[in-house]
Amino acid sequence: MPAAYQIHEHTFDMVVVGAGGAGLRATFGLAQKGLKTACISKVFPTRSHTVAAQGGVAAALANMGEDDWRYHFFDTVKGSDWLGDQDAIEYMCREAIPAIIELEHYGVPFSRTEDGRIYQRPFGGMTTRFGEGPPAQRTCAAADRTGHAILHTLYQQSLAHDAQFFIEYFALDLIMDADGACRGVLALDMAEGTLHLFKAQGTVLATGGYGRAYFSATSAHTCTGDGGGMALRAGLALQDMEFVQFHPTGIYGAGCLITEGVRGEGGILRNAQGERFMERYAPSVKDLAPRDMVSRAMTMEVREGRGVGEHKDHILLDLTHLGPEVIHEKLPGIAESARIFANVDVEKQPIPVIPTVHYNMGGIPTNYHGEVVQLRNGNPDAVVPGLYAIGEAACVSVHGANRLGSNSLLDLVVFGRAVANRAAETVKVDGKHAKLAGDACDEALARLDKLRNANGGTPTSVIRDKMQRTMQADAAVFRTGETLADGVRKMREIHASFQDVRVSDRSLIWNSDLVETYEVSNLLGQALATIVSAENRTESRGAHAREDFPERDDASWMKHTLCAVDDAGNTAIDYRPVHMYTLSDDVGVVPPKKRVY
Ligand code: FUM
Repeated sequence: MPAAYQIHEHTFDMVVVGAGGAGLRATFGLAQKGLKTACISKVFPTRSHTVAAQGGVAAALANMGEDDWRYHFFDTVKGSDWLGDQDAIEYMCREAIPAIIELEHYGVPFSRTEDGRIYQRPFGGMTTRFGEGPPAQRTCAAADRTGHAILHTLYQQSLAHDAQFFIEYFALDLIMDADGACRGVLALDMAEGTLHLFKAQGTVLATGGYGRAYFSATSAHTCTGDGGGMALRAGLALQDMEFVQFHPTGIYGAGCLITEGVRGEGGILRNAQGERFMERYAPSVKDLAPRDMVSRAMTMEVREGRGVGEHKDHILLDLTHLGPEVIHEKLPGIAESARIFANVDVEKQPIPVIPTVHYNMGGIPTNYHGEVVQLRNGNPDAVVPGLYAIGEAACVSVHGANRLGSNSLLDLVVFGRAVANRAAETVKVDGKHAKLAGDACDEALARLDKLRNANGGTPTSVIRDKMQRTMQADAAVFRTGETLADGVRKMREIHASFQDVRVSDRSLIWNSDLVETYEVSNLLGQALATIVSAENRTESRGAHAREDFPERDDASWMKHTLCAVDDAGNTAIDYRPVHMYTLSDDVGVVPPKKRVY
């Protein structure tokens, strides 16, 4: 090991990496159970990307009309295009109700109905009576700043509990032992330039998605999939990476999110002819079809020459008919974003929008307790001891091939809570830690030393730019075997070019060059896994739309993809079965059928 590095050691029962909605909910949940818990985060907690979530969080509270968690379960299975694990979906939809009531009690300032209950708006793909009834008003909202409201409340709760925060610490690598168990994480205190080993009985990855593998994304620049990158380096396979969600309404040019809540409140998508084209694609739910369908419909309109603007390359989102009262009360945030980023007054003009990368359905595979699972010796559900993943970093899989809007904030709180409950059952308070081998951190330190002194010919930013442009062009809303093969070839070259990376700053104190290089390395592995998995899956399902294989093929492909990527960029594909069973008899398995709305 490079001799120059001194490591500060910390011992905890549990360490949580990431302080967004999932990380914070897990952190104070664990502390509440009496477990000595650390939370490390590369940004100040209230700057985590959860803050940007707008439209709301789903739960069948039935505050504003008929609803039932079983309808939510049905919609989520159908929305997932039958790739979601039905046991996990049952768990999430049932637990949604107590989890949201709990949030209300913690102090989330939800918008209110006249009679004081939590306000709920319709969102895409959310229906009643197992798809046969009218749209459900299921998405609990705090105007259009729900993520902001939830994140701040969760941080306040975290401060009220006895958890220890390590803020502006960047997690470098997982520390795994010879038996494949996770024993903690090595992190860099970015401000002080010091190294810290967090030894823990359990390590929870709550590091968010890897949206920044793409050129245009609603994700913050911090969304670099650091947990997924560390998992790949630990030799673990990621799951269902080919399923990348494009949100229909990113602001054209800027990429910022305009919430689906706009359409929930009555906003309409229009093409160059002013036509409400969604009536042709999803006659019953129209603009409130699930995101994969709306994104494809918008792309078709543009392709067929009905796009707007000088280049006829985008669509208009019209909310001029909603009136100032609805806009001020329910949608103040997007009115501001539209003014700043599109120079549009939403009361008078439509917003120019385009499908924009928004969410990764794939991630680190887990069961519904948040325990990381892998395929081992024929067992598809083998738990990796000591390692958990939650939130967008994880693939539980509750979203399958396509996530329904407002099921993401829900996933954060439900599985953040689940991990705390599980650890309370399985981790001993102040339990004994097995002795860690003397060379446990050597590999991670060697990598740090190599990157810090990387003296190649290619700046990190050049590699990042090439990756983002390739992913944007070749792993897009519509995909073909040809574009994917070309994209895989390019991504393999880009991945290999990381061997030639140049880092200019050799210090350890606020070395953003080094941290960005780690982030790009984390992104590269996941970008490669995404495009390789996409080329491999020769069917269309949810967000994965193959023009050369336009139909869903359940006989061959109703299974989860596993993709491992080693340091040299070699990829290995395998599969896990979809869980076609539920946890109780309260709800029946939804058998696959054609997904129409
Ligand atoms: O459109 C939105 O407000 C986004 C919500 C989500 O991704 O769940």
